[in-house]
Amino acid sequence: MSLSYLEVNHFRNLHQVVIEPDAELNIITGLNAAGKTSLLESIFYLSYGRTFRQGQYKDLIMNDQDYFRLISKVSHQHQKSTIGIQRSSKEQLIRVNQRTITRLSDLSSLLPVIALHPDSHQLLSAGPENRRHFMDWGVFHVEHSFLQIWKNYRKALSQRNAALRCHHNDRLCNLWNHALIENAELIDRFRNDYLNKLNERLSFFSERIFPDCKINLEYKKGWPEDISYQMHLEKHLSKDREKGFTQCGPHRSDIKIKLDNKSAQTSISRGQQKKLVALLRLAQLDLFVEHTGRRCILLYDDLPAELDANNRRILMEILSGMQVQLFITAIETSQLDYSGYQSAKMFHVEHGIVSTINN
Ligand SMILES: Nc1ncnc2c1ncn2[C@@H]1O[C@H](COP(=O)(O)OP(=O)(O)O)[C@@H](O)[C@H]1O
Ligand SMILES: [Mg+2]
Repeated sequence: MSLSYLEVNHFRNLHQVVIEPDAELNIITGLNAAGKTSLLESIFYLSYGRTFRQGQYKDLIMNDQDYFRLISKVSHQHQKSTIGIQRSSKEQLIRVNQRTITRLSDLSSLLPVIALHPDSHQLLSAGPENRRHFMDWGVFHVEHSFLQIWKNYRKALSQRNAALRCHHNDRLCNLWNHALIENAELIDRFRNDYLNKLNERLSFFSERIFPDCKINLEYKKGWPEDISYQMHLEKHLSKDREKGFTQCGPHRSDIKIKLDNKSAQTSISRGQQKKLVALLRLAQLDLFVEHTGRRCILLYDDLPAELDANNRRILMEILSGMQVQLFITAIETSQLDYSGYQSAKMFHVEHGIVSTINN
């Protein structure tokens, strides 16, 4: 799978851009505020239907315009799909091969994208929701039933919470337990299996990026380890009733990330956090490729500012051996060593205008 064509209209400062990316490596250069991050952001939007930066969709529409439009062609083996998104203040239209779709998960399946950017360390430093998204991205792409199971769980959860809030009797509150427990156990199993695989993969990559350090991901299921979810729900019914919502379950799960037994969330430097997040994403990419047999897109915003020269070199070397379509931004190409790549394309951005540089 790779992105073979991208057209961007009225997206941030990109008035009209058309590029045909390389299947392996794309380097996007330009001065500050040229529009490099915006270009990566447009690719991210095509996969997630949202931005990786702070702010709302309105910020993405070019000033004084009513809408933005993104069109991409995705090639997988001999198949080509076209994804088009148009967003105005009134509505969002998403089309895949001329057919309107409403589920964002269809985009993610068609165009799997992972991004590393200056705020990515929040995966470690911000709340557990970020880490749940991280593991669920991985589970979603390997377990086809995951999305439906997660939706079933959320539905049962909101029905139970409504019963708790309305002070219904025990029987009515527990009416949803069966659906809740059944789906919670499946989610728990999927996440646990995924993190086990990720841990193995991490030790393989960390030898090169964090030699002599031990990295460990410890999965927290969202309720105590020593008790079943059913027992926990029964035991805590009166507390849940007091609060008016279900306090434990997969919606509260988390990952404790440790580097040499120190919490990566609180006790390591920002520089180490950035390296560690890059490593987590690499391991995730590698698992994705192995399980799906597909290439994944990696957007790496401002790589030279994120990693020092030595780690940059190691990372580029590792990535060149993986099934990844890479988009990197940098002020200039001299900051990157891409000698391990068979093919590459360079793009230069100036005041929102993107030109392809011929080697
Ligand atoms: N909605 C918008 N309309 C027009 N310009 C915008 C909009 N949002 C952001 N910008 C501008 O786009 C420019 C490019 O930003 P960015 O992509 O972050 O640049 P780079 O990553 O190259 O430093 C900035 O000058 C920013 O102010
Ligand atoms: Mg930028």
